[in-house]
Amino acid sequence: MTDDKRTKNEFIKEGSRQLRGTIAEGLADVSTGAISEDDSQLTKFHGTYLQDDRDVRPERAKKKLEKAYSFMIRVRLPGGVTTSKQWLALDAIAGTYANHTLRLTTRQTFQFHGVIKSNMKRTMQALNAALLDTLAACGDVNRNVLAASNPYLSKTHAAVHDLAVKISEHLLPQTGAYHEIWLDGEQVIDETRPAKKDEEPIYGTHYLPRKFKIVIAVPPSNDVDIFAHDLGYIAIVEGGKLVGYNVTVGGGMGMTHGEHDTFPRTADLLGFCTPEQAVDVAEKVVTVQRDWGNRESRKRARLKYTIEDRGLPNFRAEVEKRLGYKLGEPRPYEFTSTGDVIGWEQGSDKKWHLTLFIENGRIKDLPGWSLRTALREIAELHPGGFVVTANQNVIIANVAAKAKAKIEAILKEHGIAIGTDLSGLRRNSMACVALPTCGLALAESERFLPELLTALEESLDKAGLKDDDIVIRMTGCPNGCARPYLAEIGLVGRNPGLYNLYLGAAFNGSRLNKLYAEDVDKVRIVRLLEPLFARYAKEREEGEHFGDFAIRAGYVRATTAGNRFHDDLDLVKAVS
Ligand code: HEM
Ligand code: SF4
Repeated sequence: MTDDKRTKNEFIKEGSRQLRGTIAEGLADVSTGAISEDDSQLTKFHGTYLQDDRDVRPERAKKKLEKAYSFMIRVRLPGGVTTSKQWLALDAIAGTYANHTLRLTTRQTFQFHGVIKSNMKRTMQALNAALLDTLAACGDVNRNVLAASNPYLSKTHAAVHDLAVKISEHLLPQTGAYHEIWLDGEQVIDETRPAKKDEEPIYGTHYLPRKFKIVIAVPPSNDVDIFAHDLGYIAIVEGGKLVGYNVTVGGGMGMTHGEHDTFPRTADLLGFCTPEQAVDVAEKVVTVQRDWGNRESRKRARLKYTIEDRGLPNFRAEVEKRLGYKLGEPRPYEFTSTGDVIGWEQGSDKKWHLTLFIENGRIKDLPGWSLRTALREIAELHPGGFVVTANQNVIIANVAAKAKAKIEAILKEHGIAIGTDLSGLRRNSMACVALPTCGLALAESERFLPELLTALEESLDKAGLKDDDIVIRMTGCPNGCARPYLAEIGLVGRNPGLYNLYLGAAFNGSRLNKLYAEDVDKVRIVRLLEPLFARYAKEREEGEHFGDFAIRAGYVRATTAGNRFHDDLDLVKAVS
């Protein structure tokens, strides 16, 4: 017997020969569409998840067929930026190897769904040819690094994007496994990428205890939802110059229903660093979490629990010890919103940028509404590139004034509206993927939110609130991939058709919401929210947001600190 209490994943990582496992052998095995359970933990580090189509599970089980296995593949795309050429490559992959859709994620990248095992290598190689990769897009490592949505808006935005790329590169696993397995040993043809070695100077043999997420925000916009992430940087501009960053640590969304020692948490301010120190700070925060993080329970392994358990002052002292210098005092900053400004916006270089609303980030073609084709046609003639936002929208970037009409014409020809006429609720909505691909989903999300919004829009119309910005987010389980606990209206799946309803988050992403009603279905959600909308319309104070009103009017109590999410649950019983 061993008294080693580490989780199974720790042993899988340890024995994996730097993330190789038996993935190559598993890919070559044509007797099944799946790979082994251990390998499916390891492929996450390579940016891909084994899934199955849950819609057809019962039918296939009846026929004694293997589940309809396929893979989700997630691209690493720091700051969400692609060239037009890369867009075309991504679109071609979606059509050739995936389910003909592109999914923009809440963490500024693309996912492909429905890639079968025999097409995996081809997909990875097509991405490599487009100078893209999927390394560390999932797994117990630093994931995609987010940056304030449009690097072309100002010099600060450009600098922040550069930092996102630098941090992403610096924290990449060094193992050659990715190239060996997917690219037949070929190196990416891009000199800016580091040569692959077989040591992991930052991660070691066991990588991190759990995933790690980094973002960079440029106030007053909090479009990256900084307080939801493990490590964040808030750009501080003084006298027109980017002087450094306030550093935040310990945000995270995931929790487990009914287990109150798991909770979403908003990040704390750790200190201030200069632009030159920022990459080093990321490395040292990551190594403290590597050494201090919980490896005995994956449910309590994120940095947020390390900070809860060890205390912020101890964590700061350890980071400063490893840095060899002290962090500065955080500087003043203000966030006003988390959403995107839909429509045309002009950058400081006078170029135009069109933020297009994409419902739940899904890019596809339907009869009379061909979003994927429209964006492909735009990519073919538009040299300025695209940016994926952390709100699952896309920016068609760097458009000359005289080209605006052409882009609008292509969208119109394919039945696509920019989104400026949508209700304020829909413009500020997000849903995670959930069914049919996500193995963890307890309820629908992406396929259900649009119809729920249509029902809620009737209530909003009655109250005269159609144009008001209200943030609503839904997920199919409590893991929180669409950051529902930071939405003014949050809905989290419990069972098929049933959701927990949360209210009272801050519009600028700085305060978590609170449970208001348990296990509510569509009809009940509308019945609960309609009178609230009516009161909000009549009684709100000048500039008061819906989440703040829900607290002032007594529907929920405010979550006063990052870890106070489960307080006041007694109030819930009143409405459930
Ligand atoms: C314990 C926690 C979590 C687990 C086990 C988990 C697992 C998953 C899985 C399996 C998927 C794939 C679904 C599909 O595409 O079919 C997914 C999607 C995704 N997750 Fe998570 N997740 C967790 C928490 C989070 C959190 C807290 C965030 C963000 C703050 C996040 C961000 C994403 C994103 C961006 C996607 C892509 C699709 C989308 O935009 O909805 N995840 N997650
Ligand atoms: S929130 Fe849950 S259901 Fe939705 S994608 Fe994440 S893990 Fe799946």
